[in-house]
Amino acid sequence: MADTALGIPDHHYREGSASLTLGSGFFRPDSRPSRDCSVLLARHQQQNAEGQLRWLDLMAGCGIRGLRWGLEAVPARAERVELWVNDGDPDRLPCLESNLSGLPMPVRISSQAAEVVLAQAYLEGRFFDLIDLDAFGAPGALIQPVLQALRFEGLLLLASTDGRSPTGHDRAGAVRSLGAAARVHPASWELALRHQLGLLARQAWMLGRGLQPLLCFSEGRTFRVGVRMRRHLQPGEEHRLGLLARCDACGSQVVQILRNLSGWPACRCASGAGRWSVSGPLWIGPLQDPQTLAALRRDPWLREPGAISNQTQRLLERLEADPGSPATVWPTDELARRVGIGGPPPLNQLVTAVRRAGFQAYPSGVMAGQLRTDADLTVLLRLCADLCSEGT
Ligand SMILES: C[S@@+](CC[C@H](N)C(=O)[O-])C[C@H]1O[C@@H](n2cnc3c(N)ncnc32)[C@H](O)[C@@H]1O
Ligand SMILES: [Zn+2]
Repeated sequence: MADTALGIPDHHYREGSASLTLGSGFFRPDSRPSRDCSVLLARHQQQNAEGQLRWLDLMAGCGIRGLRWGLEAVPARAERVELWVNDGDPDRLPCLESNLSGLPMPVRISSQAAEVVLAQAYLEGRFFDLIDLDAFGAPGALIQPVLQALRFEGLLLLASTDGRSPTGHDRAGAVRSLGAAARVHPASWELALRHQLGLLARQAWMLGRGLQPLLCFSEGRTFRVGVRMRRHLQPGEEHRLGLLARCDACGSQVVQILRNLSGWPACRCASGAGRWSVSGPLWIGPLQDPQTLAALRRDPWLREPGAISNQTQRLLERLEADPGSPATVWPTDELARRVGIGGPPPLNQLVTAVRRAGFQAYPSGVMAGQLRTDADLTVLLRLCADLCSEGT
């Protein structure tokens, strides 16, 4: 029995309705939430679209996403969906062909560089309704050709495993791959997602298209965004690109819209010694679309045993409870430390207190133990201190 790149024995693997051979290439069982979300979005598109659909799994590995789309996202009239499944590694071809051979719809399997698949699609006027780009590293160079091969209102699932640049640990790398300043921030996964969306938005806008994030998440290693490419920009969409500054002394945060950039106010640090660490341009708009998430969660397929994993179920619940806006997020640990109390107040209590004080507040769906709010740090520290004294 051969081993996959991650040491998983090359045997039959089951996930959802799919049963397949993993082959000897890259495969991560832990990425199941991203595959479950891919199937859910494909189902959602299929249920709401008329006519033919064309879906592309561009870096397919063993072909599990295409296989699950074919088995789980098209319950009736399989012929209305055409699947395109590609992996650049020619050694994957026999595995792809065998795994996808039983699907009832037309399936085009190839082993070409993604750049070639997309260039051919462009030359031949072939557009896709859904593209899943599950890349290694930073996918920036493929964004423009991917968007050019996506149909208006089409869906794109984009993964990046480059965590160092967008989290501020490789600042030169961030300038190169994102065209942006990236600074270390406690909400590091969220900033990485916002950088990815900022890059996507700028590329979509260059084509005259709009960008609507549907869902964004990470487990700290891979940063995943699911977006809809709109035919036109929404009014004021350019206001969703901006800069986020964090005081390196007191932790205060300020957001500015790029279009209206007007310098930074002095931070109200007690010491006056704080300097702003500025990240951006990045996406400062919502990370999720609550309507789409609610529709995904209403899908009756979710009631079938094993349709999605428990982990995916919890992820969707977290994302639905957090619209991903405003863009300012604080770890409760940091707030507790700055107030000088032992442990942080329970996040739900803090959310309630901040809402009562007249501000927006949500538990972050992106990183555990973080509060999303438009209240400023002074208010947050006072509310934290009040909660702490109520509890003693
Ligand atoms: C993260 S893995 C895909 C995993 C798969 N989507 C899954 O859910 O299990 C990335 C795949 O992309 C392929 N790949 C890497 N660079 C590529 C390129 N430029 N064009 C096409 N495929 C590429 C690799 O061979 C690898 O199988
Ligand atoms: Zn400060």
